[in-house]
Amino acid sequence: MVQNKKTSKISGFYKLPVEKRIEIVNNFSNLDKNEFQNSNLDIQTADRMIENVIGTLKLPLGIAVNFLINDKEYILPMATEESSVVAAASNAAKIARIKGGFKTEASDPLMIGQIQLLDVSDVAGKAKKILDHKKDLLKLANNQDKILVKLGGGAKDLEVRILDSPIGKMIVTHIIVDVRDAMGANAVNTMCEALAPELEKISGGRVRLRILSNLADKRIVKAKAVFDKEKMGGDKIVDAFLESYNLAVIDPYRAATHNKGIMNGIDSLIIATGNDFRAIESGAHAYAARNGQYTSLTKYWKDKNGDLVGEIEIPLAIGIVGGAGNIHPKAKICKKILGIKSAKELSEIIASLGLAQNFAAVFALSTVGIQKGHMSLHAKNIAVMAGAKDEMIDKVANKLVKEGNVKLDRAKEILKELK
Ligand code: MEV
Repeated sequence: MVQNKKTSKISGFYKLPVEKRIEIVNNFSNLDKNEFQNSNLDIQTADRMIENVIGTLKLPLGIAVNFLINDKEYILPMATEESSVVAAASNAAKIARIKGGFKTEASDPLMIGQIQLLDVSDVAGKAKKILDHKKDLLKLANNQDKILVKLGGGAKDLEVRILDSPIGKMIVTHIIVDVRDAMGANAVNTMCEALAPELEKISGGRVRLRILSNLADKRIVKAKAVFDKEKMGGDKIVDAFLESYNLAVIDPYRAATHNKGIMNGIDSLIIATGNDFRAIESGAHAYAARNGQYTSLTKYWKDKNGDLVGEIEIPLAIGIVGGAGNIHPKAKICKKILGIKSAKELSEIIASLGLAQNFAAVFALSTVGIQKGHMSLHAKNIAVMAGAKDEMIDKVANKLVKEGNVKLDRAKEILKELK
């Protein structure tokens, strides 16, 4: 497939054989011929990453196409075991690009570190005393990471909170650190540990916890897109979408599932780039409950043309330097596929994908339901389980879907008939 102008709008990508897809990705992202195929995680590297290694676990890695984000074309590597997710993201991105694609905004990459002080007498007075030492404390923190400071990052601010707990009052000092292109856990934790003895001296108290917070609510990314009402099927479908969405606004039972759909996309890209998906998950869900009730991470409304506008707002503590993403060979290639230059750019792509994934799920749920999309790939798996091979897989799967009966017994019967 020859492309004159670089575009991620690659129609029929899903119909191509794997080798051809890799060729297109190589061209799109300027990868060397066998760079992608040669980027597997070897056992020696794995053995250095975690403890007690006995092997590695592979996941399917797909490419979501059609993404236009801040007027730049992207193809997105997604590592997931769930069928329909990659196709759904690609479809949503295709609709979003009709009205200009995704537009994003990201805050500075500010992470929070917490230092917990116990046994403090006169917590209010000591909290003030800590704030009086802010300049020195920030200097001490910044002495821990000269390189980060040189890059324009480092400890920027310090806040003090007084909390009441079942074991008494405590002071929790927050150190706010600009971690630049890193996820930041190491930098922040080192600073917290360095500040602890000094905070004990100032307050006369005793430090217990010194650790970053995964509620990264100063590292927020927003992505917005307009979804064309005609492409969605008209005003009635937009209204149906809004009806579905509003349940996620008011009901935690629905919001949990709604947000899970968002994380289907986000986690796939987080995993593909070697980032910490648990950090992102915990931050996202804590943020979704920030006003006291767990709710949707996305917002939707109609604009004056009747098109659907969607927006996501989410904390994203991700990095492109340090961490597993710089060790795992496939994660390194995935970052190359994205063509990203900064953690900020990656976070903007991740937020856009989260919005796309959510739009796709709620759109399907508001119209045909999600089973239709799920069924065709599921049917292929059932066909394989029934013993189908090569071209028989598609033949059996198609028949199963056509009959609306995607069951193993029926797949075995069809296979016998076709043989
Ligand atoms: C399934 O993995 C995700 C959905 O349940 C999300 C949603 O309900 O919005 C389809």
